[in-house]
Amino acid sequence: MKDILEKLSERRAKARLGGGEARIVAQHRRGKLTARERIELLLDEGSFEEFDTFVEHRCDDFGMEKTKVPGDGVVTGWGTINGRVVFVFAKDFTVFGGSLSETHARKITKIQDMALKAQAPIIGLFDAGGARIQEGVAALAGYGDVFHLNVAASGVIPQISVILGPCAGGDVYSPAMTDFIFMVRDTSYMFVTGPDVVKTVTNETVTAEELGGASVHTVRSSVADGAYDNDVECLLDIRRFMDFLPSNNVTGVPEWPSFDDPDRAEPSLDTLVPDNANKPYDVKELILKTVDEGDFFEIQAGFAKNIVIGFGRIEGRTVGIVANQPMVLAGVLDSDASRKAARFVRFCDCFEIPIVTFVDVPGFLPGTAQEYGGLIKHGAKLLFAYSQATVPKVTVITRKAFGGAYDVMASKHVGADVNYAWPTAQIAVMGAKGAVEIIFRQDIGDPELIAARTKEYEDRFLSPFVAAERGYIDEVIMPRSTRRRLARALALLRDKAVPPPRRKHDNIPL
Ligand code: HXC
Repeated sequence: MKDILEKLSERRAKARLGGGEARIVAQHRRGKLTARERIELLLDEGSFEEFDTFVEHRCDDFGMEKTKVPGDGVVTGWGTINGRVVFVFAKDFTVFGGSLSETHARKITKIQDMALKAQAPIIGLFDAGGARIQEGVAALAGYGDVFHLNVAASGVIPQISVILGPCAGGDVYSPAMTDFIFMVRDTSYMFVTGPDVVKTVTNETVTAEELGGASVHTVRSSVADGAYDNDVECLLDIRRFMDFLPSNNVTGVPEWPSFDDPDRAEPSLDTLVPDNANKPYDVKELILKTVDEGDFFEIQAGFAKNIVIGFGRIEGRTVGIVANQPMVLAGVLDSDASRKAARFVRFCDCFEIPIVTFVDVPGFLPGTAQEYGGLIKHGAKLLFAYSQATVPKVTVITRKAFGGAYDVMASKHVGADVNYAWPTAQIAVMGAKGAVEIIFRQDIGDPELIAARTKEYEDRFLSPFVAAERGYIDEVIMPRSTRRRLARALALLRDKAVPPPRRKHDNIPL
């Protein structure tokens, strides 16, 4: 009996070494942790339970029958993060570069199935070379199965991808179908085909970093949602991130103890908006002063900075925040900002996360670059997403809400539940200068008359009261009371229920 137990321990110890000591050293030398070290950091201490430790590949081609490694390049199982169940798979780059074989894929799909049954999130840690080349179509079939389950799980359980090394082929397409992607600077790359293939096909010479590093995907392509300096920082922040997310689309947001009084007044907000309407202010100050303990998890901080999205809490419960950022392009809505916010709104709606929207938007960005880039379609995505979302939606207009952007940014008309405005709000088709130049074009030659017309327009329209008189704004509130107002509105809406319409699915302008 003792022998048998020892054999199990030996086999486990061998499996834990993955591709062996030398490759583990190489992994560390590249500034990366191993798959198991990563899992240990991500999960609560001692909570990881591994499955399929002894699974091996079944390939006989190219001498592969002689190189079998228990686990076959992926570590799978489940554990907890601050006591809440999550499923995990971590690619082991020390085994065939973490590439995916038929059996490696089965390990992942088993975890995907289990996560769906257990209604718990799934986190993939990626560091891998795509399909196992020696396995051909068997590996491609394996990816197909993973992709199919990614889609089945979409909107049912949160799916998070963390990119911690080079990732190519199928190892970028599976993350691309999950809800959030996080990367590590200088050690992680995502590309469909690597620099060598790029050189052969297009004759372009690029480094892996230039082609698909974190700086590309968090700033230019928006494929990734955040970046960190190393594996440790990244994995610890993913723990913090998971605390914001519901486990699935049914149980609702988690509730954590909060020591921040929901009635806390914030007098400094009374002077946040400058007297000069053309002067910017930082909307992040408003967000940080409103959410519990100033704890805000920003998503896509480096992309389309004219809109800010992320998660915070009010009374211990998660809210999704969308806010125009007057500091960047005056907070205008362009294609990038629209699609960034649209996807976020849809995530919140999938998982029953209430949405708080702070509005200060001068409109949609004009110009050929935007129109040729499909501003109409991208703007429609945000309009569609807000209109469709049935979660509680509470909106605060702090300053400008001009034109179509007023409608889009969670106005009453697209289904927001409670709409507040600060006394500094200006709700109109456009700003005074543009408006006067159009409707009083005949007076343009008379500066005095134009000044009088501008004043008349400003007095009448550049305030929240025309909208408030019509009931489009539920109340004009003191800025200092924003947190209290939001907390009360969200409590009021906690049991909001909207029956889904009868249809297979909508046709969002993708
Ligand atoms: C089998 C692989 C492999 C793969 C890497 N390895 N990728 N083995 N299949 N796809 C092995 C290498 O042979 C090597 O083994 C070890 O892993 C480490 O790889 P290196 O190349 O030494 O590491 P590095 O220099 O860091 O480069 C990492 C890499 C590169 C950028 C990922 O290995 C690479 O380009 N791999 C191929 C990527 C690719 O084209 N994959 C197929 C994509 S198509 P030894 O024993 O020598 O150490 C795909 C289809 C699905 O995924 C698409 C669905 C849409």
